[in-house]
Amino acid sequence: MAGMSQTADRIEILISAEEIAARIAQLADEIAASEPVDLLVVPILMGGFVFAADLIRALHAAGLNPEIDVLMLSSYRGGKSSSGHIEVLRDINSAAAGRDVLLVDDILDSGRTLSHAKTLIESRGARGVATCVLLDKPVTRAVAIAPDFTGFVCPNTFVVGYGMDLDHRFRELPFIGRIMQDSG
Ligand code: IMP
Ligand code: MG
Repeated sequence: MAGMSQTADRIEILISAEEIAARIAQLADEIAASEPVDLLVVPILMGGFVFAADLIRALHAAGLNPEIDVLMLSSYRGGKSSSGHIEVLRDINSAAAGRDVLLVDDILDSGRTLSHAKTLIESRGARGVATCVLLDKPVTRAVAIAPDFTGFVCPNTFVVGYGMDLDHRFRELPFIGRIMQDSG
């Protein structure tokens, strides 16, 4: 296969698949303990889809039966930095009014993406909008927002895998890692 040569990239594992699975089970218990009303879980695409797929099954194991819808946002991110401009590429179809909504994303960085999503869903009359991110980057936010549920504090580096990409690659990795610089 022509694409096989791409696997020459070396990725250093920062958080293993086993560590992610164990933490997601705990997160689901924390979310269930918050006793959400008529829960609507909204993964933010693209980055949030792998995390959300595992999280909703953990929510089932924790005794919840949420509805699922998706929100697709574009932050005009190319390479490793975002431009700050956010566009809604696909809105939710479900009514959010009167319900508890849980927004799910891969990683909180500048805060612009999650903050935009939260404001949008709040404007629909949700009972409450909570946020759940797998990774929280310890950076100075462009927008002040603190997630309600956090999987891990992220090393202050660009990470890939488990849904997260560098120019649409590496989303398929079952772990979270860092691309090693070529040393020749
Ligand atoms: P924010 O709007 O700056 O908070 O960026 C959030 C989005 O940027 C995430 O949903 C990711 O898609 C992307 N992002 C931020 N940091 C990383 C990273 O280290 N690796 C991959 N994607 C990232
Ligand atoms: Mg994303």
